[in-house]
Amino acid sequence: MTVKTLTKQEQLNNIGFQDFSMPGNFRFGVDTFYTLADEVRKLKVQKLTVISDNGLERVGVVQRVLDLIKPLGLEVSIFTEIYGEPTLSLLNKAVEFVKKENSQLVIGIGGGSALDVAKATAALADKEDVTPYLKGEAMIESRGTKCILLPTTSGTGSEVTMNAIFEDEEQELKRGIVSGCFLPDLAIVDPVLTISCPTRVSASSGVDAFTHAIESYVAIRSTPLTKMYAEKAMKLFSSNITKAVHNGKDINGRIGMSWVSTLAGVSLANAGVGAVHALAYPLGGKYHIEHGVANALLMPYVFEVTGTTCTEEMTNVASYLQLGDFNNNPHKALDAVVQYLYELLVTLDLPTSLSELGINKEDLPLLAKQASGIERLLSNTPYRLTEQKILQIYEKAYHGIKN
Ligand SMILES: NC(=O)c1ccc[n+]([C@@H]2O[C@H](COP(=O)([O-])OP(=O)(O)OC[C@H]3O[C@@H](n4cnc5c(N)ncnc54)[C@H](O)[C@@H]3O)[C@@H](O)[C@H]2O)c1
Repeated sequence: MTVKTLTKQEQLNNIGFQDFSMPGNFRFGVDTFYTLADEVRKLKVQKLTVISDNGLERVGVVQRVLDLIKPLGLEVSIFTEIYGEPTLSLLNKAVEFVKKENSQLVIGIGGGSALDVAKATAALADKEDVTPYLKGEAMIESRGTKCILLPTTSGTGSEVTMNAIFEDEEQELKRGIVSGCFLPDLAIVDPVLTISCPTRVSASSGVDAFTHAIESYVAIRSTPLTKMYAEKAMKLFSSNITKAVHNGKDINGRIGMSWVSTLAGVSLANAGVGAVHALAYPLGGKYHIEHGVANALLMPYVFEVTGTTCTEEMTNVASYLQLGDFNNNPHKALDAVVQYLYELLVTLDLPTSLSELGINKEDLPLLAKQASGIERLLSNTPYRLTEQKILQIYEKAYHGIKN
């Protein structure tokens, strides 16, 4: 009998099977933060590193982790040199730090920036030369240390995804590194940790989560399983986003948005995202525009074009967002969704045009060229955008809908 094995390329092209991945364990709930010490004890490690960002260290979040695990008597080091969204050289620095400390566990606590550094560091900590992995020339197929992730924004969903995003300083572009080994041993999602999240970050990361939901919902790689997660995320988003942003202490709003972030993250992890992200990455690389802000701003302008190929999905999305029943008039659903996405920017006090963000109009062709090269995302979008079409979208977003 001949045994058929699939090459990597055949596996990638194969529509006959669909993997569905989640972290080793996923824990959600108010005050689940306090279960961290017990979980660390169970992992039987002697040395660990806490990775977080500088802002969270300043507001005392890192100290809370240290106080919680102190009774375990372990050797603990901290890496908090994350200022803003991370670069590949920062990731390299974090890996060197964890290698030097000989840590057996990385605890990542923070928004997507800190969690991406934490999970990629955990995966790379046993690799002698990390360069091929950072350049995307080699796949990360094992993890060097154990890993626990705790998000403080809702959010990127980074604690449940196989992606980590870094700025490639040489190319002035943000780039995703993808590996199943980025899924942590345990994700602890405690909505209370998001209460101190500033209004602007609550808004931008909240809409980022919605971008994950809607883009993965229409994605070429979506399945009934991923659509189920995305659908629930969109429904919860519409009833919780303004509560969480306009009254950050509203725990029900925060719980709702933590679910949105997680559910959308699971959908993103397994179905991927698309053109909104492809157009947002160059803004992050060249202009350092925060990821959530770039996605939120571009979403209405991109969907106005790409949504034309998924009328049925747009009719469903309109109903999940409680915009009305468009089953008898499905071609109107897209207009309603785009209008909602645009008004969301205004309601949440987020920028509505690229000119507001200080982007130079002369740079738009270069940004369009960079975006058109992000094949992984464009090929997962139901409407195939050309470089010229991308430029048209940037031009419209530059002026804004109002102008
Ligand atoms: N891995 C993935 O799947 C994935 C998905 C989307 C985005 N990302 C990446 O995530 C990053 C953005 O993450 P983000 O939007 O969560 O923001 P962030 O991690 O960059 O944090 C933004 C700011 O908010 C502060 N902050 C976060 N939580 C806080 C809290 N509870 N209290 C007080 N301050 C708090 C941080 O200190 C920081 O100054 C980008 O680099 C983006 O590319 C990753």
